[in-house]
Amino acid sequence: MNAEFDHLLPNSRIGQANLGVPTGGPPPRILIVDDSPTIRSSLKSDLREMGAIVAEAKDGSEGLRMVESMDFDLVITDVEMPQMDGFSLCRQLKSHPTKHSIPVVILSSRENEEDIEFAFKVGASNYITKSNARTHIRARVKEILDRRSLLNGRTVLVVDDSPSIRNMIDKALTKAGFQVLLAQNGRQALELLSRQVPDMILSDLHMPELDGLGLCKIVHGEKNFCQIPFIIMSSDGDRAKMRQLLEYGASAYLVKPFNIDQLVVTAERFLSDHFTRVLNERKHLESERQMLISGISSLILALEARDVYTSGHSESVARLVVAIAREMSLEESRIERVKMAGKLHDLGKIGIRDAVLLKPGPLTDEEWQIIKLHPSIGAEILTPIQSLSDIIPAIRSHHERIDGKGYPEGLKGEQIHLYARMVAVADTYDALTADRPYRKGFPRPKALEIIEAAKGTQLCPECVESFLRALEKFPGV
Ligand SMILES: [Fe+2]
Repeated sequence: MNAEFDHLLPNSRIGQANLGVPTGGPPPRILIVDDSPTIRSSLKSDLREMGAIVAEAKDGSEGLRMVESMDFDLVITDVEMPQMDGFSLCRQLKSHPTKHSIPVVILSSRENEEDIEFAFKVGASNYITKSNARTHIRARVKEILDRRSLLNGRTVLVVDDSPSIRNMIDKALTKAGFQVLLAQNGRQALELLSRQVPDMILSDLHMPELDGLGLCKIVHGEKNFCQIPFIIMSSDGDRAKMRQLLEYGASAYLVKPFNIDQLVVTAERFLSDHFTRVLNERKHLESERQMLISGISSLILALEARDVYTSGHSESVARLVVAIAREMSLEESRIERVKMAGKLHDLGKIGIRDAVLLKPGPLTDEEWQIIKLHPSIGAEILTPIQSLSDIIPAIRSHHERIDGKGYPEGLKGEQIHLYARMVAVADTYDALTADRPYRKGFPRPKALEIIEAAKGTQLCPECVESFLRALEKFPGV
């Protein structure tokens, strides 16, 4: 993240997912340009709630200076301001050599058609009236940022034997934020494809060596390329040929001469549709993953129902390990994973028979050996689930010790996955404070004393320190 934004970090990261920002991606950076401190402040709090990092400028010229010195994903600007108005700011940004692709939203108190038309003429992506801002701004911002994150930096392969057409399309697409690959004919395009897979192909029809029809046929017959949207550009309006191209898998047919803006819009539309489909597939996979996880959570509940004394242990460990993770400043996406590891850490106990797991008194050596299998059993149960692969080390190693005397592998120090070291602290604390059939739980001060004493031998010192700090800050955790 840009260092200049550090002081602008939102207090809360809640809601970042609502923006549709790709998982794990950085929060969007938005610049608000308005001479009214009240409007800036109200917009800022709305956008921060969505997880955005927000900066402010009080007029167009300050806005322009800030855009030139920092990276922004979106600019929202008022129209009437001293120094430089919003239309001039938008016009200057759109003709800026490096900042022209930043979308601009005009936010105005005026609602006349001339202004709206003028806003789009100077290159604004959207026009919102201030009276509608509170109800519409979130949806519009989300839409624009989704589109930007979907399309920005996508690669388009342009295949045409005319240098002037290649040059014109190259310029227009580059300006719209695409990466452009150029080929003079189908044969050259195939050579390029063997090195780099573009997100879309724009091809002329009539070319020497290998024409657009031949290229389209080959591309759509290859399993690595058949999903790439393929748009044909030609002055040939022959319907039979168009039909044949569509049969070969072409997505669209643009008849030359076409307006270059029309070509850019077509490219954007096809890529948007394409990536929306990919995004939907991803969402579908995510919902399947969630179903799987709720199935596993039911298993945990079933496990805990066997033993009334461990009921709620997994939830407590998950809650405590989140507190440790936050104190260690882990990213929000990693905190979610640690929480999952906390919930699932004892899953393997499902494979331990009742006579051993539920035995009220002390265990024999042989029974201990059986109990010690639960981390490996848990890891084995989860191994086939690809989406949980990052937390399996936490399940397998949550009984390892920093001094190497733990189980199942006797790992030492940082050989033990960080998530496992964190879970170990939370697990130990919850076990110490929970009541057992053969003993009452320790009071908090005594449990903390034991945890402190285990620092550096059984438990990771950094995780223990973070845990103690988290408890001090939030005693009710
Ligand atoms: Fe355990």
